[in-house]
Amino acid sequence: MSSSAATSVSPPLSSTMQAFIAAMPKTELHLHIEGTLEPELLFALAQRNQVALPYSSVEALRAAYAFSDLQSFLDLYYAGANVLRTEQDFFDMTAAYIERARADNVRHAEIFFDPQTHTERGIDIGIVFAGIARALRAAREQHGFSSAMIMSFLRHLSEEEAFATLEAALPLRSHYADLWHGIGLDSAERGNPPEKFERVFARCKELGFHLVAHAGEEGPPAYILGALDVLKVERIDHGVRSEEDPQLMQRLIQQQMPLTVCPLSNLKLCVVDEMAQHNLARLLRAGLAVTVNSDDPAYFGGYMNDNYLAVAGALALTRDELLQLARNGINASFLPADDKTRLSNELEQFAATQ
Ligand code: HPA
Ligand code: ZN
Repeated sequence: MSSSAATSVSPPLSSTMQAFIAAMPKTELHLHIEGTLEPELLFALAQRNQVALPYSSVEALRAAYAFSDLQSFLDLYYAGANVLRTEQDFFDMTAAYIERARADNVRHAEIFFDPQTHTERGIDIGIVFAGIARALRAAREQHGFSSAMIMSFLRHLSEEEAFATLEAALPLRSHYADLWHGIGLDSAERGNPPEKFERVFARCKELGFHLVAHAGEEGPPAYILGALDVLKVERIDHGVRSEEDPQLMQRLIQQQMPLTVCPLSNLKLCVVDEMAQHNLARLLRAGLAVTVNSDDPAYFGGYMNDNYLAVAGALALTRDELLQLARNGINASFLPADDKTRLSNELEQFAATQ
């Protein structure tokens, strides 16, 4: 990501600004549920399922969370997911995430899950769906926390394997019609361009799913173009490298194509060297429909509010800009129009009382 900013120290965020961020109603549109597995729960599940871990303690595991790029993270992330074996494990992980999200005043979350990470280990895809969905439904019933599930294909695997995953999942669709609304594409971006998944995304479009894809995190702007023109996505996950292509920037502005930006993720995976160099504020001020999200919070050091706090401080965002980011999140969600209106009203009421 290009930036002329040298090392800079951002002033501490005022306590009123911190309170503003904490209380603002928010949406989460880029969250990998396997990336919410905190070391404590990971250890507990390892013990419950008698899975040996190559770490002696929670602290030792947490200390290993020092990444140099996306792949160095993915290696640990997939290894961590190995403790997930039963429906109850997926439930517990999802319930723990919801608790954290609710504490941050997240009202609605659209959650990625990677069935292939689990089916490759012999876990039935039905177990994955059932555990996640049970927690999401309980949160909706008990707390009015709304959500959607986005089944993601691993792009380091073949399109044929993505098709096989889709085939395995489709018989479950009617059981999860209230939640399963989207299809995504994640994992190692470089060397796995969107074009590799053209046919399976076309099939998913025919089936009526919402489509999103990771693009322009580590991959070039051409991957963002591919996601738009070949995969026909409705949102770009990350997309921060769009700034390298002025024509693409104009198109993203004109189409108001949402980007689900994940600031702490970008910092931890060395997409940026420092938060002060992050282009979120430039993209926002240029008129792009950027949103703030937490990606894999257990690995990247923070949930939704931590992400907002980090960018608000480092990029000197104003209250109006923070509100605009939250508005963008509501608009970019897959919520039905009525729900969007209700959530927008809540946000504008919050803004009016500040
Ligand atoms: N990028 C790509 N794949 C991922 C990510 C990410 O940030 N997190 C989990 N899978
Ligand atoms: Zn992601």
